[in-house]
Amino acid sequence: MSHYQHIGSALIHGGISNDPRTGAVNVPIYQTSTYQQDGLGKMRAGYEYTRTGNPTREALEALIAELEGGTHGFAFASGMAALTAVLSLLHAGDRILISSNVYGGTFRLLAQVFDHFNITYRIADTTDDAAYEAAITEDVKAVVIESPANPLMTVTDIRRIAEISHRHDLLVIVDNTFMTPYLQRPLTLGADIVVHSATKYLGGHSDVVSGLAVVKDDALASQIAFIQNSTGGVLPPFDSFLLIRGIKTLGVRMDRHVENAMKAAAFLKANPAVKAVYYPGLEDDPGYAVNKGQAKNGGVMISFELHENYDIRTFFENLQLVMLAESLGGVESLVCHPSTMTHASIPAEIRKQVGITDGLIRLSVGIEDIEDILADLAQAIEKSEVK
Ligand SMILES: Cc1ncc(COP(=O)(O)O)c(C=O)c1O
Repeated sequence: MSHYQHIGSALIHGGISNDPRTGAVNVPIYQTSTYQQDGLGKMRAGYEYTRTGNPTREALEALIAELEGGTHGFAFASGMAALTAVLSLLHAGDRILISSNVYGGTFRLLAQVFDHFNITYRIADTTDDAAYEAAITEDVKAVVIESPANPLMTVTDIRRIAEISHRHDLLVIVDNTFMTPYLQRPLTLGADIVVHSATKYLGGHSDVVSGLAVVKDDALASQIAFIQNSTGGVLPPFDSFLLIRGIKTLGVRMDRHVENAMKAAAFLKANPAVKAVYYPGLEDDPGYAVNKGQAKNGGVMISFELHENYDIRTFFENLQLVMLAESLGGVESLVCHPSTMTHASIPAEIRKQVGITDGLIRLSVGIEDIEDILADLAQAIEKSEVK
């Protein structure tokens, strides 16, 4: 960062932020699958085929690398494609630890796909150093953490887990989807690889499915580049452009998202119909102190449960502004029901074991006027009371 010091400027000017050839202030969409060569082995600008390299995608990859404090970024067709590429670093016989809360799709990828290749997983309590270290057996080669984790917002001390993991030569992979580099930069806390569902806050407008991975080590970077090109789940040029565009406003969006989330969490906490609120931005949340030590604030995602005399189906059906939908991170407020939606692919007994109850509601607080969000939640809660 030479001509700027702060991340808000890097969001706009980072990576390859314009077109040196024409002066266009936006990176052009290089909508091409291939590139003409002047002779055998004579490429004009180093590009041969878009799966292998594309200038629009490269601009995005340079941008996310800079924002996360890494050296190399990789853009994929979805968050799951990013994670699949990263986990493809492992070999048959290796085991991966996952924190007890992770996105349901991450669990499914390990339990039902990587399992075919004899790459197995074990759930570990990454909030407890001793329990975590005890879960590291000889075959464990990597750990996947989310902090705050989807959907219970459990906070893991990334520095501590990185320290313990590195003593055992584990690769530390952090899914930073919920926080984004604007709020938390896991590579600077000791992680080896950051992955994102960029579909969420980075894109920010619920209009592009995309994934990113970032590393700070050259050897790891060349392995992931090789896997990215070999497995081919790359992000198309137009979608890369949309993400660059979304990232420019990440700072202003996140500031407003978080301001709204703090108010929504306080509102839920004070509402007598609400049994529990999970949000590390609240001072009495068990993850508050650790989160404060590694992130700018508590982020945007909130989960909560209503008391037993409230019917959650009625609650969801009565929402008018806040939409019931999978996903999160867009400008609009979204709610979901983890046990039947985002985390349905986790077997019921494991959901129960890790605390994902059938009454859990997950809220992605949008950037609408907070008064309208709160009024909508209040009326839907009121109507859902079973009298
Ligand atoms: C924390 C987290 N990681 C990864 C993913 C998967 O990303 P995608 O849907 O872009 O494949 C999601 C999706 O909801 C998520 O919430």
